[in-house]
Amino acid sequence: MQRVAVYPGSFDPITNGHVDIVERGLKLFDKIIVAILHNSSKEFLFPVEERIEMIETSFKNIPNIEVDTFDGLLVDYAKKKNAQTILRGMRAVSDFEYEFQLALMNRRLAREIQTVFLMTGLRWIFTSSSIIKEAARYGGNIEGMVPPVVNKRLKEKFGKN
Ligand code: PNS
Repeated sequence: MQRVAVYPGSFDPITNGHVDIVERGLKLFDKIIVAILHNSSKEFLFPVEERIEMIETSFKNIPNIEVDTFDGLLVDYAKKKNAQTILRGMRAVSDFEYEFQLALMNRRLAREIQTVFLMTGLRWIFTSSSIIKEAARYGGNIEGMVPPVVNKRLKEKFGKN
């Protein structure tokens, strides 16, 4: 049986913290599906097509990764893709409450799907898509925190090219 994990998120945009989780996740799973939440009430900086493209570019040389989008319940999507696991990264204690809630709700909705957490790499403990966007918006240097394609897109977006 192929061990397939869904790695869901907004990825607005993908960061090196996300890349690290996927690379380490591939030591546990045969395949990881990076699943971008599509229609949501959230406001996104990047349209979904651009988020897909940035993720695909970031994982260009890494096999066994699929990039996809999903709507509706995550567990329904995981079942549709024959994935047994939901993969999530965990940073500081501040992530715990939300992740705990999400994992327990998903478990209640689909007991056959397990959530697996990987602790973030120490280098990425303070990074998030939101804080990176904020720094980039005001001209802060975010090199090394995001894949090069994302750095470029953020500069274009905020007119600092
Ligand atoms: O990166 P994020 O924004 O923290 O990711 C959140 C995400 C996409 C994992 C979560 O919002 C999600 O799974 N949304 C889909 C709806 C769903 O299944 N929610 C959980 C059970 S109610």
